[in-house]
Amino acid sequence: MALRAGEWIVVGGAAVIISFAIVSGIIIYIKPPPVEYVYLEDEKSMVGELLYRSQGCGACHEIFGNGPSFGPKLDGVGSKRNKEWLRAYLLNPRPGVSEKKYRLKMQPVTGLTDAELDSLVDYLAALKKAPSADSKVATSKQHG
Ligand code: HEC
Repeated sequence: MALRAGEWIVVGGAAVIISFAIVSGIIIYIKPPPVEYVYLEDEKSMVGELLYRSQGCGACHEIFGNGPSFGPKLDGVGSKRNKEWLRAYLLNPRPGVSEKKYRLKMQPVTGLTDAELDSLVDYLAALKKAPSADSKVATSKQHG
C-alpha cells in the first residue's frame, strides 16, 4: 500500500502523538506526583476538624483544595507554625502573617472552651508538609 505525502503527515503525526502519550504515561507511572501535604489525624485533631467546620473557618480558608481563598491556604500550616503560635494567633489574629494581602480580616475565635481550642489547634498542627520520600526516619517518627 503506497501512501501519498499528505497521508504520511497524518500517519507520522499520529505516531508522534502516540509515542508522546506512551512516554508520558510511563513517566507518570514510574514517578507519581509528590504528595505535598498530609493530615496526621488523631483523636484530638478529629474533634478539632469538626470545630473547624462548625466555626466556619472553611468559609475563608482552603485545605486540600476545598474552600475559597479569602484567607491563606492552611495546607501544611502545622509544619510552618507551632501549637503555641497557632493558639495565640486564633485568640488574637492580626493581618500580615502571610505573604499575600487579604481584604477580609480574620476574627478572634471566641466561645470555645480551653479543651476545644486545644483540639482546634491540634487539627491545624496535624496539617503537615509531607516528609520527603527519602526521610523514612521522619515518617515513622511522625506516625509513632
Ligand atoms: C473572614 C475570613 C476568615 C475566617 C472565617 C477565618 N479566617 Fe483564618 N485567616 C483569614 C485571613 C485573611 C488570614 C491572613 C491574615 C493576614 O495575614 O493578613 C488568616 C490567617 C489564618 C491563620 C494563619 C495562617 C498562616 O499562614 O500562618 C490560621 C492558622 C487561621 N487563619 C486559622 C483559622 C481558623 C482555625 C479559623 C476558624 C476558627 C479561621 N481561620 C477563620 C481569614 C479568615
